[in-house]
Amino acid sequence: MSNIVIIGAQWGDEGKGKVVDLLSSGISAIVRFQGGNNAGHTVIAGGKKYILKLIPSGILHEGKICLIGNGVVVDPSALCSEMDDVAGQGIAITPDRLKLSRKAHLIMPYHRLLDQAREQSKDADKIGTTGRGIGPCYEDKAARTGVRACDLEDPDLLRAKIAHSLKEKNTLLAGLYGGKALDVEDIMAQIAPAAARLTPYLADVSAELAKVEDRGGSIMFEGAQGAHLDIDHGTYPFVTSSNTVVGSAAAGSGISPSRLGRVIGLVKAYSTRVGAGPFPTELFDGVGEHLQRQGVEFGAVTGRRRRCGWLDMVVVRESIRLCGIGEIALTKLDVLSGLKEINICTAYMYQGKKLDFPPQMESGMGKVTPVYETLPGWSEDLENASSWEDLPETARSYVRRLEELAGISVSLISVGPDRDQTIMR
Ligand code: GDP
Ligand code: IMO
Ligand code: MG
Repeated sequence: MSNIVIIGAQWGDEGKGKVVDLLSSGISAIVRFQGGNNAGHTVIAGGKKYILKLIPSGILHEGKICLIGNGVVVDPSALCSEMDDVAGQGIAITPDRLKLSRKAHLIMPYHRLLDQAREQSKDADKIGTTGRGIGPCYEDKAARTGVRACDLEDPDLLRAKIAHSLKEKNTLLAGLYGGKALDVEDIMAQIAPAAARLTPYLADVSAELAKVEDRGGSIMFEGAQGAHLDIDHGTYPFVTSSNTVVGSAAAGSGISPSRLGRVIGLVKAYSTRVGAGPFPTELFDGVGEHLQRQGVEFGAVTGRRRRCGWLDMVVVRESIRLCGIGEIALTKLDVLSGLKEINICTAYMYQGKKLDFPPQMESGMGKVTPVYETLPGWSEDLENASSWEDLPETARSYVRRLEELAGISVSLISVGPDRDQTIMR
């Protein structure tokens, strides 16, 4: 079995899109298993930039099957727009290449509105969601009142489900948040074009994955977000609403956990976070500005500035444990060029004790003090480095120290957004 799981080991935006695209060439099928269009995965190929939100990042490789699993929440109109965008860039989108699980839950207009209304009504406790309706859609899934992709083939059931949901949602939207109540027929009319467009793409994703394996093909599981945005294991409540850890790849695509294969953890050479929530190594000085500017750290979905800070090995160490990460793909090492000294957070001080893993109390992460180790920086540009030997000794020492602290190897180093700005070790 040569299946691979790609998982973000920090707070998302580690460069999963680039690595999925890069490693797709030896793979038969790429499947998304959680999250929705809160994800923004950027791939630069042939001088063109593609931002994928719901469509797996393997789509740029001809002949690869791209699947959206049952664990993903899908906004039908957003998926159609993305299909148009990608097709407009010359990539064929056809039902034999793109498949949407009939069991995937659909984001309805009331989910988006509720997500936004809730955020607007909050003050200091805002989560800073992407406003795409992700949380409210997963809520309905858990409440067993959700609309699923298979309902697009059964308009009577779809209408009944929406009508049922609106009783409660309108009370919240109009009553509590002072917005407008929604009408079931308006929603049906809004969804109709997307429903007609998406119906040919509906599939039994679990069965499709089994077929790929029966033919001797291999599967890549493309994670969205990062392990520290996981609803259970992340910095709750400043998390997304799905399980982002590797275990989710099995349940969210309909495959046995024993079939997951190699787990590659994506680690950015520093840390970033979008939205609110504790971030122990966050920088508010010139170094933070350097990382933000050199790394072009703006959210791919919302355009928000990403908060930047030093690499936090406490966070990475926990992701390795939670996800069984066997190797690291290290991205954006080039962004550190030009810094005199580079810090790595190796542990936290919390209530007078040294911690190797994040504290368990909800308020804990906001109260830790990072313990830093300082390494020398380098001035050389890394963007043209194509082998380990091309890297300055100080950059190699940084990678070696990271490996020691992680207890696993770095098998891939990315030194720029392009496919070929990659060092395989
Ligand atoms: P994802 O959500 O994990 O797929 O990551 P994003 O695509 O949201 O953010 C990563 C950004 O960094 C994208 O704009 C990539 O094109 C870019 N990128 C990826 N790898 C590298 C790298 O090694 N160096 C630089 N400078 N940029 C990179
Ligand atoms: P990719 O896949 C970074 C963050 C949001 C917010 C929190 C909850 O590109 O790495 P949500 O809309 O999910 O309810 O927002 O999660 N968030 C991400 N941050 N990268 C992502 O995805 C993210 N998806 C959600 O900023 O803080
Ligand atoms: Mg992203």
